[in-house]
Amino acid sequence: MTVNAPVNIALIKYWGKAQVHPVRPSTPSISLSLKGLDTTTKLTPADDFSFTLNGEPPSDESLDRLVRFIRQYTKDLNVHVESVNAGPTAAGVASSASGYAALSLGLKTMFDTHLDWAAFVEKTANGSGSAARSLLGGAVLWDEDGTITPVEFNHANYQMAILLLSRSPKQMSSREKMAASTKLPEFARWQVRNRLRSTRMMEAMARDDFSTIGALMEASTLDMHALTALDPFSPPYLTKESIHLWHAVREARAKGLAMYVTADAGPNIKVLFKKADHDRVVPFLKTFTHPVLVHDIADEGAHVCA
Ligand code: ADP
Ligand code: DP6
Repeated sequence: MTVNAPVNIALIKYWGKAQVHPVRPSTPSISLSLKGLDTTTKLTPADDFSFTLNGEPPSDESLDRLVRFIRQYTKDLNVHVESVNAGPTAAGVASSASGYAALSLGLKTMFDTHLDWAAFVEKTANGSGSAARSLLGGAVLWDEDGTITPVEFNHANYQMAILLLSRSPKQMSSREKMAASTKLPEFARWQVRNRLRSTRMMEAMARDDFSTIGALMEASTLDMHALTALDPFSPPYLTKESIHLWHAVREARAKGLAMYVTADAGPNIKVLFKKADHDRVVPFLKTFTHPVLVHDIADEGAHVCA
């Protein structure tokens, strides 16, 4: 059986767990699933276990996490898995989201067809919180109670470009850095701000108010990166080049090109813009020396292919 799931990029960030098992996020988060940047995973029932990620055995650390995840569905690990990511792995372009969403759907379809939706979402989030959002296409809310809901948004009008500053795996996983952030005294105030932003974001998305959507996305992003900066000994995710590009986008925006920036647990920069502006935005982004990947918003979330 083959399954596929899109990556998703958060406009309102998930950064912190209220509960580790089952995973419950500290604030709501809102994302867009991206077409063409996905994971395809082939599962074959077997007497023993094997796993390849992009044709190679995963690292010991990745394998431990994958085995714990797979045991939620098959205690004896009776499955062979071959998974391939269309984009870079572990570089801040959400491979864990598409990877765990595809794997979760494949395992449910193979071992637990009657699993109810809420329990399925919960198991998926136990792999990686953001993976829950990749179960759906379009705009998705992952709420504090662990549920996912489609968000009203005319996503066909938008595209997201990824400026690939780096394909290298990040030095410190989002899981560890996120856990460190939750211990900070400032964390409670981040929660208050991010909850408020998620409510305002849903209202702005429903009325297609792009400047408010963009401003809230940039605020949630910068607030998340500010939290990580409060640990003075861990390296920042954003590099000098990420900040330089962000400034360039802001300057171009001030001159009338409507586009807004986000970034996750890595240096890569993502730019949200309206499809109608594609022919102005993309040539501008290509003036920088980095590869530019341009993606429509996916209509479909995780699905079984064959
Ligand atoms: P990213 O920013 O790409 O999500 P993370 O460090 O959060 O980076 O997650 C990367 C980890 O997610 C990998 O080391 C691996 O354990 C897991 N992962 C990535 N792709 C897949 C996949 N296709 N199937 C299963 N697990 C995957
Ligand atoms: C910065 O979903 O990778 O991309 O639940 O620990 O696996 P775990 O974390 P993960 O964190 C994603 C963080 C983010 C923001 C987001 O996608 O909302």
